Amino acid sequence: MNWDQARRILHWDGRRADAAPAGPSRRRLAGPGLATRSLCIASGKGGTGKSVVTASLASLFAATRRVLVVDADLGVGNAHILQDVAPERSLVDLVEGRASARDLVAICAQNLDLLPAGSGVSHVAALEPWELARVAGAIGELERDYDWVLVDAGAGISAQTVALAAASERTLLVTTPDVTALTDAYAFLKVLVQRDAGSAPCFVVNRATSAGEAAEVAERLRGAVRKFLGRDLPCLGWLPDDRAVTRCVNARAPVVRHEPDSEFAVALRELARRFEREAAGCGPTIGLGQRLARLAGDT
Ligand SMILES: Nc1ncnc2c1ncn2[C@@H]1O[C@H](COP(=O)(O)OP(=O)(O)OP(=O)(O)O)[C@@H](O)[C@H]1O
Ligand SMILES: [Mg+2]
Repeated sequence: MNWDQARRILHWDGRRADAAPAGPSRRRLAGPGLATRSLCIASGKGGTGKSVVTASLASLFAATRRVLVVDADLGVGNAHILQDVAPERSLVDLVEGRASARDLVAICAQNLDLLPAGSGVSHVAALEPWELARVAGAIGELERDYDWVLVDAGAGISAQTVALAAASERTLLVTTPDVTALTDAYAFLKVLVQRDAGSAPCFVVNRATSAGEAAEVAERLRGAVRKFLGRDLPCLGWLPDDRAVTRCVNARAPVVRHEPDSEFAVALRELARRFEREAAGCGPTIGLGQRLARLAGDT
């Protein structure tokens, strides 16, 4: 892979991008397994909107299904803030042996629970393989109780973040129009497919100012991925830059719940519909916890 060429493509003015369906996930089993679905929301660059997208997706899914959000930003998580809960325990306590998986579950809303990451605990940001295996065990113990597990990933391309994406049934990359975010999304994808050639990621352009800008940005990323990774990266759509998001963050509430008529909420609902259409019709899986446990040894 030639980084300079890839970077040049990410700077290109490209053609319009349309959402393209991905093939069926190879993680599904023909026989008995878990019906729980898993989605990792990741980015590469920090601050692209992973947590606000996760909070709103979780809130939408929870209207009809049981949802567990896993805040994977260990030690510096903020998913609990966006759901307005103040859990006493977090995955940090689990990793350090002070709590069991069930001790950690924070109830956020009807059908919506959270495994909090803990905040202000820097020494757990990078987990040892056995620590990641402990997190995998906790997810494995709990996931049966849910229809969806949404992983709110930390920024960057650390081995544990990539393992979480590789272990999830689907990965949604959140990028902004900034070339730095696009470059980091590309880097994340490159590492992800090296780790797990069968993963089926897709992406969304967040904080775009128009459909035209989003389409151009999406095509730049798709072009680079097509050319240098030989893959199609489906774009699930775009989300507008919207002051409502900041207001909802400050109100500690998911945008779709607090400002359901905002531009962002309308676009997020469309994104969720597209995602569900695309991910529909799958059979049972071996489960996120089990897959993560297998990958933990390689981190
Ligand atoms: N569509 C949007 N419109 C306006 N502001 C937004 C939008 N999306 C995100 N933001 C702003 O960006 C901030 C960061 O968002 P968020 O915390 O979701 O990013 P993140 O990718 O989870 O960050 P981190 O990498 O630190 O976990 C939000 O607090 C919000 O102010
Ligand atoms: Mg976040």
